[in-house]
Amino acid sequence: MYSSFPFTFYPLCLLLLCFFIPHSLSDPRTTQVALICSNRTALMPERQTFIANFLEAMDQVTPLISTQRYADVTSGTGSTAVFLFGECMEDLSQNDCNLCFALCKTQLLRCVPFQKSTRGGRSFYDGCYIRYDDYKFFDEALSAEDKTVCGTKDFSGDQTVFRANAIELVRNLSVEAPGNDGFFVGSVNRSNISVYGLAQCWEFVKGSACAECLANATSRIGLCPPKEEGRVLNAGCYLRYSTQKFYDNSTSDFVEENEGSSRLAIILGVTSSSFALLLIIAMTVFFVRKKRAKRRREKKQLGDLLATVNKSKLNFSYETLEKATNYFHHSNKLGQGGSGSVYKGIMPDGKVVAIKRLFFNSRQWVDHFFNEVNLISGIDHKNLVKLLGCSITGPESLLVYEYVPNQSLHDYLVKRNAPPLAWEMRYKILLGIAEGLAYLHEESMLRIIHRDIKLSNVLLDEDFAAKIADFGLARLFPEDKTHISTAIAGTLGYMAPEYVVRGKLTEKVDVYGFGVLVIEVVCGKRNNSFTQDSFSILQMVWNLYGTGRLYEAVDPSLGGNFQEDMASRVLKVGLLCVQASAELRPSMSLVVKMLTENHETPQPTQPPFLHSGNAESSPLVKAETSHSLPESGTQSSKNSMTQSWIEPR
Ligand SMILES: *[C@@H]1O[C@H](CO)[C@@H](O)[C@H](O)[C@H]1NC(C)=O
Ligand SMILES: *[C@@H]1O[C@H](CO)[C@@H](O)[C@H](O)[C@H]1NC(C)=O
Ligand SMILES: *[C@@H]1O[C@H](CO)[C@@H](O)[C@H](O)[C@H]1NC(C)=O
Ligand SMILES: *[C@@H]1O[C@H](CO)[C@@H](O)[C@H](O)[C@H]1NC(C)=O
Ligand SMILES: *[C@@H]1O[C@H](CO)[C@@H](O)[C@H](O)[C@H]1NC(C)=O
Ligand SMILES: *[C@@H]1O[C@H](CO)[C@@H](O)[C@H](O)[C@H]1NC(C)=O
Repeated sequence: MYSSFPFTFYPLCLLLLCFFIPHSLSDPRTTQVALICSNRTALMPERQTFIANFLEAMDQVTPLISTQRYADVTSGTGSTAVFLFGECMEDLSQNDCNLCFALCKTQLLRCVPFQKSTRGGRSFYDGCYIRYDDYKFFDEALSAEDKTVCGTKDFSGDQTVFRANAIELVRNLSVEAPGNDGFFVGSVNRSNISVYGLAQCWEFVKGSACAECLANATSRIGLCPPKEEGRVLNAGCYLRYSTQKFYDNSTSDFVEENEGSSRLAIILGVTSSSFALLLIIAMTVFFVRKKRAKRRREKKQLGDLLATVNKSKLNFSYETLEKATNYFHHSNKLGQGGSGSVYKGIMPDGKVVAIKRLFFNSRQWVDHFFNEVNLISGIDHKNLVKLLGCSITGPESLLVYEYVPNQSLHDYLVKRNAPPLAWEMRYKILLGIAEGLAYLHEESMLRIIHRDIKLSNVLLDEDFAAKIADFGLARLFPEDKTHISTAIAGTLGYMAPEYVVRGKLTEKVDVYGFGVLVIEVVCGKRNNSFTQDSFSILQMVWNLYGTGRLYEAVDPSLGGNFQEDMASRVLKVGLLCVQASAELRPSMSLVVKMLTENHETPQPTQPPFLHSGNAESSPLVKAETSHSLPESGTQSSKNSMTQSWIEPR
């Protein structure tokens, strides 16, 4: 698949690039420590506003982190206000901070009340931290959800000495940190047993609050030895010890080191002869020069590789896109989904584009991301929104798409902020979607399964031709389980039963989603499987089919302006697509034939809801409210987040 494509040059270069970025610089400490979702289950009637506020806050957080290393954001007011705070460990370089934070941020999406009324969550990485809640917690030092995370391995040497060292170390760090701007690192090496530690209070937890928080942490971390690792994750501070030197005390902006070396310089300056001083200066200059030269060399190597990316017409500079959207001004915002916000942008040459700002980080796999963008941008079909390129060099990842002016089907059929679509238009749109999907499944060289077919992912161009958005997104994030599980839970109302229950992913999952869409478009109603008491329209159409009165399901706002036999045929195709058994559903190319030619249409034989209208009842899609370090093999279908009702504006 890859080798058949002519762009093998890029992946190679980018692979190299990938090696250079993280390894030539320091360690961003992107190990996940814990994800703590609040298990408060407050009633929240305005959940949708709350989530919109959350996503809004997530948008604001990255630029703040990349300038001041911490971010405090308040979004919305009253009972739906969202408070969000994030910070990097002091010893991380700005680059590492950005990288760690981008990854840490994505985990927080797991704690968003997409389905349950849970709200509030904290995501801890070794290098950074982010938390959101429904109250202003910024200066909170301790809370009921604070957590101690001990390692799994016991120290193999003298455990009594180890324990004494660890405890003395964390005690000293906790005493020093409050007076040192809330941050201290250090080590003990007594009886030849070394322990390293770090203590940090968050930005708004100062002085006595910091001391109180760390004192609490110190006594709790005492439970960890003889484990080799111990961490306390409090609301206001972070304390860790380890047998490994994990922190970085070599950067020039590190306080302890500066103090140490200047003290040394003074002592030497006073006590030694001017000759010695000169010698020291000369040596310092020599080493600094050497270091600078090394940095310059690294920069040059990096520069050469980046130049390769830059030469590609798929690469857009972050600055250009930032300007095109008026610095992501909210008046340019077109919509918001579970994977990021979309903005309208006007490029320097006047071309209008849609720019998607991703919550998901892609820097870790730059090579893969760029390669995929390369492949997906090669897909060109009249019914698919074209991907024009991406930006991977800025503080967050952006995707650039062609701009489709006429809103989404969701705007026409659910929000109804435009005149209803005539029958001919609906037919044309459905046929277009079918052709687009048939192309993705069967004709394009990539064989893409969309996974998230729904009204808001079908855009309309100036001639009301359907254009499918967001295809291939899952391919961009192979390692990002959050994204996969967001997508898997995409929209329960559209999800094929075998996908919900077993996570089985084939093209037939899209066929099912298409079937739901057909029924929605013809009936002019949303298939709302969330409200328990509402009668699913799939059920309704199936019942009408049984009594031979399918045409009665057609949207009444059409005022009877449609051909009954035609509408019945289209609905019947819809029912064929939502049959519970994937094998019975037709392929998309067959669907196209059934819609256009008088191709024989078999009778749908199975109702669509073997799993019932209420997918929440399935045991596999129960949300886990509180979990630390989800096991790597976690079945992604266990996660039940859904972005179904966060729709574009
Ligand atoms: C949250 O979960 C913890 C541990 O599972 C439990 O002790 C606590 O009572 C729960 N709190 C609420 C409000 O349900
Ligand atoms: C960094 O920390 C290690 C271990 O704590 C110590 O041995 C070393 O001298 C420190 N380096 C600097 C530059 O402070
Ligand atoms: C910890 O603090 C005590 C008292 O200030 C001091 O005697 C001891 O040397 C310190 N230990 C370390 C490892 O810094
Ligand atoms: C300290 O430990 C290192 C390895 O852990 C060992 O090589 C060294 O001999 C030890 N030194 C003392 C004084 O025990
Ligand atoms: C710890 O101190 C011993 C001497 O007591 C020394 O031999 C050893 O190298 C030190 N270990 C580390 C990791 O600094
Ligand atoms: C630490 O703070 C938590 C939350 O206030 C409290 O429940 C706990 O008892 C404290 N632990 C210690 C050892 O002070």
